[in-house]
Amino acid sequence: SPDISVTNTKAHLDQLQTIATNNGGNRYTGRTGYRASADWVKAKLDAAGFTTTLQSFSTSAGTSYNVIAEWPQGDPNHVVMAGSHLDSVSAGPGINDNGSGSAGVLETALEYAASGQVPKNRLRFGFWGAEELGLLGSKYYVNNLPSAERAKIELYLNFDMIASPNPGYFIYDDNAAGNGARDDLKAYFTSKSIQTEYVDVQGRSDHAAFRSLGIPTAGTFSGAEEIKTSAQATKWGGTANQAFDACYHRSCDTINNLNLTSLDRQIDAIGHMIWNYAQKDYGTTVPPT
Ligand code: PHE
Ligand code: ZN
Ligand code: CA
Ligand code: ZN
Ligand code: ZN
Repeated sequence: SPDISVTNTKAHLDQLQTIATNNGGNRYTGRTGYRASADWVKAKLDAAGFTTTLQSFSTSAGTSYNVIAEWPQGDPNHVVMAGSHLDSVSAGPGINDNGSGSAGVLETALEYAASGQVPKNRLRFGFWGAEELGLLGSKYYVNNLPSAERAKIELYLNFDMIASPNPGYFIYDDNAAGNGARDDLKAYFTSKSIQTEYVDVQGRSDHAAFRSLGIPTAGTFSGAEEIKTSAQATKWGGTANQAFDACYHRSCDTINNLNLTSLDRQIDAIGHMIWNYAQKDYGTTVPPT
């Protein structure tokens, strides 16, 4: 599988920090820093050859946007999706939450486009607005998909907070039944000698919108406000009895609030999953509507 560039991913995070800095310090729904983030991601994906859509929807904090990018090759009846929320809270620039997942999904998409791979399946990437207001962007997206289009989505992978400064290596355990993607993520980390824990994230991120439609979902997470135990510090390093991300939802979630080892390991896991699921054989039957 690919070695997704942590240098390039960090450069995307520098860009998101600059956007926040130039727009009042945040990338919150309804503020200029969010629209600038969406326009920037869309332009990168357009330039790489993706077919993109800026999907707008209204919220109590103002208009928000999802950016959807599809690679124009592969069987459109079998869609493999990955996504991340692109908005921050109003308190700060949201660089770990969730610049990290957004930069990692973006870089994986750009590297796939540049790879010359021809996918068997259709790859689609989603950058969600207004997650911080209650998963509004991902819910809007799935609720506005015709049922025939919903049925074509084979898998949705979610990445929300993947470079926590005191990181853990968590794999979502909700929607576990018959879910090979969850097991593939664990096997990938095990192959890199990285221990993982399954965690039921209780619908706290955008995969929940897909899961509610019965679509298989999986994802990873390096931890938020929860406290790292001494057993976890023994296996993962870092500091016991401190939060995985002490700057969670705070003004200090800046470009200085990142663990680049966690980021690099997580983006390589994203790359591994995308490259493999791009070629997965889902059969040739058109899914039922
Ligand atoms: N979605 C939460 C937030 O943005 C963070 C989170 C991600 C929590 C993944 C659990 C699992 O604030
Ligand atoms: Zn691999
Ligand atoms: Ca890498
Ligand atoms: Zn958040
Ligand atoms: Zn988040």
